[in-house]
Amino acid sequence: MLIRTLNEDLKAVARELEYPEDKISVTYSDRPDLCQFQCNGAFGLAKVLRRAPLQIAQALADKFSERYTYAKAEVAPPGFLNFVVTDEAFSDLLKEFLSDPRCGVEKTDAPRKIVIDYGGPNIAKPLHVGHLRSAVIGEALKRLCRFLGHDVTGDIHLGDWGTQMGLVIAGLEERYDLSYYFGSDAPKPEITLADLNEVYPMASARSKEDEAFRAKAQEITFRLQQHEEGYYPLWQDICATSIADIKKDYAALDVEFDLWNGESTCDKYVDPMIDSFIEKGFAYESDGALIMDVAEETDEKPMPPILLRKSNGAQIYASTDLATIVERMETIDPDEMWYVVDARQGLHFEQLFRCARKTGLVKEDTVLQHVPFGTVNGTDGKPFKTREGGTMKLKDLIAIISDAAGKQLSEGALALDPEAPRKVGCAALKYGDLVCNRNKNYIFDIDKFVQFDGKTGSYLLYSLVRINSLLAKAGQPDLSLGLKIEDKEEREVLMKMQLLVTAYHQAFEEKLPSFLCEAAYDLANAFNVFYGSHKIVGESDPLRRNTWLTLSAAVGNLLKQTLTVLGMETVPAM
Ligand code: ARG
Repeated sequence: MLIRTLNEDLKAVARELEYPEDKISVTYSDRPDLCQFQCNGAFGLAKVLRRAPLQIAQALADKFSERYTYAKAEVAPPGFLNFVVTDEAFSDLLKEFLSDPRCGVEKTDAPRKIVIDYGGPNIAKPLHVGHLRSAVIGEALKRLCRFLGHDVTGDIHLGDWGTQMGLVIAGLEERYDLSYYFGSDAPKPEITLADLNEVYPMASARSKEDEAFRAKAQEITFRLQQHEEGYYPLWQDICATSIADIKKDYAALDVEFDLWNGESTCDKYVDPMIDSFIEKGFAYESDGALIMDVAEETDEKPMPPILLRKSNGAQIYASTDLATIVERMETIDPDEMWYVVDARQGLHFEQLFRCARKTGLVKEDTVLQHVPFGTVNGTDGKPFKTREGGTMKLKDLIAIISDAAGKQLSEGALALDPEAPRKVGCAALKYGDLVCNRNKNYIFDIDKFVQFDGKTGSYLLYSLVRINSLLAKAGQPDLSLGLKIEDKEEREVLMKMQLLVTAYHQAFEEKLPSFLCEAAYDLANAFNVFYGSHKIVGESDPLRRNTWLTLSAAVGNLLKQTLTVLGMETVPAM
């Protein structure tokens, strides 16, 4: 990568001139019409060396030019240092790109052990559009971290242990004979997914009006959490039915988890943990419930205490999340835990992290981070709903977008890959989500997402299809034939490739896949401009033809790699 070589070489030059090298940093040029790279270090050095920036930039440029020929160093008043890369260097870079199986993206030399907690669906509730972002962003971040060489574990953290379980069971009890679970010889009731999907919303609505029902559900939750005979095996069956369905939905989205743990998994850690909080004087009773103060002196907003146990003794969201931290520290011992969860849960995570630090559940340097995201809105700007105003199930959403994507595909494409509508549809859906900064809300607009032109997943997939069909028609590149980069469009493609490589690291640092989405789009655009202005198939000059094929293949490799990291499946034709 040129930017890295330039950085290292310019630092070496600075050392030779006895300038402090920490002031030297080469960046991509903000005047690409003049040069490809620049360094503004002379201004910082001017203060230290008490010399004019122009003089310093000139000295750096002169020394650089003595040593290196791959780029021309030019000084622009009042002290800018610009680098114009030679065509030979661009040709070498292209060769490097094509020969590197990682397309120039280096592995980290400081691998971290990271747990990413994402997905987070609740048992007995169908996945809906609200589950989309966590799955899509979490999966992309997991793949990115892994690709960069970090040791990552993706954990779904199922909601399988809270009040909603008591609600479902209370609802089921009214409809079915559950005595099989409680020791009678009655036949085992057949509780289907459809039953669960129907019961949960009913039970949830009812608990808001019917106090006796609510109390019963709480009682059941508590007894379940005691692993009571009857409730526990019933709960296991409910989980199995629900998880089988959840797995299907995630599979359709090509989202995979390493751990299918749930809130229930950490159960054995909860009581000892809470006992130790009480023993150490962190937790205390208030109105029958157990709480802990997590406010800090520097707080500018009120910070309510964290609730650890309800007055009826039941475990809750915070206690299972805390015990999961204990469990992860014991079983995985990660350097970082990331929670890809809706921004509206910000307070929960703030309380959680403070509690975990205060009580020493994690090491001093363990990173705990909420990776928040905004809401999915409809084209009316309000939270996305079905036409009837209900919550859109994820299954239905995938069906609708696959259908829309399928309509755009050619017959040949459908024949080549019968899964193409789902793959293209999901790629469109994922890209539409990932391209916007995750902190913001975004508008879910199916028609826009599946368009072939514009900043869409379909456009990127189509660009790749185009490259592959070009190579199928015109032949594969042959590095032994040599390369010669010589015009603006070719150089532009190579610049965008480097920017995309840089974007891998930015996306990781900021936990923002949007960096990758934007840079991949810019590369596809630059490639399409190049493609439109070069008649590759008809070119008779073997050197030029080979250069163009090499460039196309290298872009194809990098695009494919990036789409895979973003979690988008590709197709052979469209
Ligand atoms: N099940 C939770 C919900 O539906 C999301 C879980 C997020 N992850 C976590 N570790 N709290 O709101």
